[in-house]
Amino acid sequence: MPEASEAKVKLATVNESPASARDLLRIVIVGHVDHGKSTLVGRMFHDTGSLPDGKYESIKAMCERRGVPFEWAFLMDALQAERDQGITIDTSQIWFKTDARDYTIIDAPGHKEFLKNMITGAAQSDAALLIIDAAEGVREQSRRHGYLLHLLGIRQVAVAVNKMDLIGYEQDQFDLIEQEYRDYLTSIGVTPTFVIPVSARAGDNIVTESTTMAWYKGPTVVKALDSFLPKATASDRPLRFPVQDVYKFDQRRIIAGRIEEGSFAVGDELVFSPSNKKARVKSIEAWSTIPGKEQPTEAFAGESVGITLDEQIFVERGELASHVEHAPIETDVFRARIFWLGHESMVKGKTYRIKLGTMEAPVTVQSIESIIDTSDLSNTSSHQVERNQVAEVVLRSRRMLALDEFEKAPKSGRFVLIDKYDIAGGGIISMEGYANQRDLITSRSTNITRVEHGVTTEARAFKNGHKGGVLWFTGLSGAGKSTVAVALEKKLFEKGYNVFVLDGDNVRHGLNANLSFSPEDRAENIRRVGEVSALFARAGMIAITSFISPYRSDRDRAREASNGGDFHEIFVKADVATCEARDPKGLYKKARSGEIKDFTGISAPYEEPDNAELTIDTSVLSVDESVEQLVNYVEMKFKV
Ligand code: ADX
Repeated sequence: MPEASEAKVKLATVNESPASARDLLRIVIVGHVDHGKSTLVGRMFHDTGSLPDGKYESIKAMCERRGVPFEWAFLMDALQAERDQGITIDTSQIWFKTDARDYTIIDAPGHKEFLKNMITGAAQSDAALLIIDAAEGVREQSRRHGYLLHLLGIRQVAVAVNKMDLIGYEQDQFDLIEQEYRDYLTSIGVTPTFVIPVSARAGDNIVTESTTMAWYKGPTVVKALDSFLPKATASDRPLRFPVQDVYKFDQRRIIAGRIEEGSFAVGDELVFSPSNKKARVKSIEAWSTIPGKEQPTEAFAGESVGITLDEQIFVERGELASHVEHAPIETDVFRARIFWLGHESMVKGKTYRIKLGTMEAPVTVQSIESIIDTSDLSNTSSHQVERNQVAEVVLRSRRMLALDEFEKAPKSGRFVLIDKYDIAGGGIISMEGYANQRDLITSRSTNITRVEHGVTTEARAFKNGHKGGVLWFTGLSGAGKSTVAVALEKKLFEKGYNVFVLDGDNVRHGLNANLSFSPEDRAENIRRVGEVSALFARAGMIAITSFISPYRSDRDRAREASNGGDFHEIFVKADVATCEARDPKGLYKKARSGEIKDFTGISAPYEEPDNAELTIDTSVLSVDESVEQLVNYVEMKFKV
């Protein structure tokens, strides 16, 4: 047997057994080589006693022979060289162990591959160790590394401030670096759990507590890592069972698929999203039922099963089964961080096919929020995403999709985009700024029958001299919605119209006083106003609604609530800069200072209408001109 494969066999047996027997944490170590990454990793391997036998001694001896001082980096280079030759079992995994558990370091060579693997799910990490150079302080590079963690959704983070020996183990300097980096990380949504002063070269605070930095009271790097938790195993998570196929045998329908996460038992009630049909599991038919063996009563993540239900509901491939209490999100719009692999660039407005579990559907790129350069992680804006770029985008589908946020359920929070027939990108889902629309589309009332009115729509219109309808104003805060709305109301009233303004600031004092500005509450705000304005219209009046109504889906639902009646979406247009310059209520100022969170246009999304019946651009029109244009519009559309 050749030497290399012998080594392979040997290492494989050494490495495999502890992994299966002991707790395992997957970490990513982010830092520049110059910041001492190799030194720190080498030191960690050595001081935890995880190096292969004789490795340290042989490198040390080699250094002596050559008359150069020993460097931990040489040792890491030697291990790397072995990995490159395929001697070790896995090119992307290195192991070290502490008393508490085993560790995998996920760090494939080359930034791009590393990112791609993490984004498409080939590699997942539970925690991260970020390295900063104490002598350099917080530079652009460290900020980018922090951003990278944000991008990958890693929330357990320890920061090692390395090379403390070069700054004389000074507490003051460390404190400054810690504060500056904590501030930066917090600003991008990453909260470091520990910031640790270390000297990898001297071995301070890596495995052994430093005696030269007695002022530091926190844990060593290894203790910090030991305190992090591995992600829950797939079976402990809420059930996610994508329907792969539905087979019909005589009277029975068998729903087949692979359980991605969680488990279920016979008798459990399942909901299939997005159809929201529910039924109980009657039986579990395992594929490989061994003759004589009893039918299973439970099924777990990783198993492929077929089930029958107690009711014959119509379920299709692509639906996602879950328990009712832990159902996935339902939405037609979401935010994603994508890694683009397509030969043709990803373009705003273009439609691709999304593959989410077993479901496929067309999605359109609504916006490209930012492009993150994978080589230097800088952030730019663009209308397209090139091959190998990472971007933050908003995707919209024509119908409801059942999905999860990547951070909460990685299997159903990740997708692939297909351009023509090729996989053109992969991405992870975030709902930041967007609402779960499940509650808005789930009808809960039963045993209700409509009552017919005694007066017809035509009779009302004839008496009033005009039809009823809705003028739905949408636009940013400060765009002029309320100003134009009340001026229009006055003008129309004088002309004999039955007209009434429903205004956000007013309605939020009464009917909607219990609603906040979270995406869900905004959606509910608009749902209620959509229904109320439809009632006004049916009563024969013209309802002018003045709400930001930032989401397209909500405005479309308001239109549907009018049920084919006269609904006119009026885009009261002024960009953020104009509104901020006006700032009539001083809210933009508060939003900028962080006093108001989730402020539309600043820290919460506004989706411009793409099918408004009328656009009133208040950055060029005066109030009078706007009203005049609207009065003409109303006379044309509503007079009988
Ligand atoms: S909507 O987004 O749910 O449609 P709505 O039109 O009812 O908003 O209320 C918007 C008004 O609430 C704004 O004109 C502003 O005066 C006030 N407001 C308070 N907090 C916020 C916020 N976070 N975002 C936007 N508007 C806010």
